[in-house]
Amino acid sequence: MADSHRTLLQFDRRSLLKGIAGCVLAPAVLRPGPARAQYRKFPFSLGIASGDPAPDGFVIWTRLAPEPLAADGGMGSDAAEVTWEVAADQNMLRVIRSGTATARVESAHSVHVEIGGLEPGKDYFYRFRTGTADSVVGRSRTLPAPEAAVSELRFASAGCQRWQDGYYTAWRRIAEEQFDFVFHYGDYIYEGATTKPERQGRGLLRAMPGDFGECVTLADYRLRYSLYKTDRDLQAAHASCAFLPSFDDHEVAGDWSADAQVRQSLKTPFLPRRAAAFQAWYEHMPLRAANMPRGPDILAYRSFKFGNLAEVAVLDTRQYRSYPVCKHFDNCAASHAPDQTMMGPAQEQWLTDTFGTSQRTWQVLAQQVNFAQLDWRSFPNHHGRGPELRMDSWDGASAGRERVLQILRQTQSRNPVVLTGDLHRAIALEISSDPKDPSGPCMAVEFLATSISSGGNGRLVTKNADAIARDNPHIKWLSSERGYTRHVVKPKTWQADYRAVASITKRDAPVVTRQSLVVEAGKPGLVRA
Ligand SMILES: [Fe+2]
Repeated sequence: MADSHRTLLQFDRRSLLKGIAGCVLAPAVLRPGPARAQYRKFPFSLGIASGDPAPDGFVIWTRLAPEPLAADGGMGSDAAEVTWEVAADQNMLRVIRSGTATARVESAHSVHVEIGGLEPGKDYFYRFRTGTADSVVGRSRTLPAPEAAVSELRFASAGCQRWQDGYYTAWRRIAEEQFDFVFHYGDYIYEGATTKPERQGRGLLRAMPGDFGECVTLADYRLRYSLYKTDRDLQAAHASCAFLPSFDDHEVAGDWSADAQVRQSLKTPFLPRRAAAFQAWYEHMPLRAANMPRGPDILAYRSFKFGNLAEVAVLDTRQYRSYPVCKHFDNCAASHAPDQTMMGPAQEQWLTDTFGTSQRTWQVLAQQVNFAQLDWRSFPNHHGRGPELRMDSWDGASAGRERVLQILRQTQSRNPVVLTGDLHRAIALEISSDPKDPSGPCMAVEFLATSISSGGNGRLVTKNADAIARDNPHIKWLSSERGYTRHVVKPKTWQADYRAVASITKRDAPVVTRQSLVVEAGKPGLVRA
């Protein structure tokens, strides 16, 4: 593979020289860089993306991979020039910014361009070119000016997209909605090995092209992202709007906490593995250079201001959390110890500072694992007679949760909303201000998005629904269907539409709004619309 590719590139240099001789006559919409190359296969096989918007711009991303499932993406070790354009119109006629970036082997031939100099609160379009290949055109949107009066914000929260569990129809439907942005709560990839039945093609909801081991090395993680990103529905979602990416556990290792691997399926040192996982995550997400990992560390918490309407704080609940102190489902005293934390002191201080200076209507905690207390004793496959709490969530650090509620009180956050994923269920909950009574006075709400595909086809009614409701009166909606949550945010109301796709084992299923819940500004609590 590598040798034949080198030959291809050598050939390309010769054709490039020929091309230069005749290039005066060749009009080019995009001005190609010096290392112009021909590709035998389409180099934008992993799509394009934009993300992390600011009032004056956003990041645009691509990764060159003419052979997406080859270890080197089919690129060999040479650098390649990529030209980019940002335009005011979808036909790319009114180009406002353009430039050249270099895709290098050190970052798997990914390209991250931080676009600036744009106007706030506006749609823009972008594309890339390398050699003679053009990418598709993507749409993105700058943030409104920090003090602008914003009348509406529409976005999706989504995540958990295990490849072999089903098609990404929910991503296709998200693409069709042309959202202002998407919050990805994590589990973009699953790091695990293909199981024996999966290798034998049994029980697969969609084919897994090949035999995949558990991700440990940078090459492993890169290949996993390559596989997932070949999906056209996912590519369409990325091209449709900016993403705010975050990671949960499966971008690294199941249930990892801080510098602990937790599930000791492999006896490998964890920090080099975490470094490899973060590097691959960065390489495949539209992130800024400020969020580039340094060895095993990455700065992934950050905040976005949507005019006077909302502040969205994207949290990192993995890197700084306490070690798990109890069984996976438990209600042990250690989980209530005062020093248990999900965010760590520096991130808690950052949240205090962020919300302390924000006078916006809605304060949003965009994060990974369920925040409100959740008693699992009556869920299927649980046999608990007493409360069963999931220690991988905020229930494993109740003091850390109470400190966040204290930050919301102290910063006089008017309308806090928590966004979550992880449980492969659509759940809407009221968050109590009383740590001893989860069904006590509501001070915030939580919208938990179901999975895109993880868990396979779901169902509308969860088994034991009545008992679950009795154990958890603060649950206002629960379903195990696949899909995403659509949020429509206005100055007086926040509406969450639980969007469900009928099937993920057949392509192209339709989407329906299964349930809508509304919060009125100034009145904490959930009302069915
Ligand atoms: Fe998941």
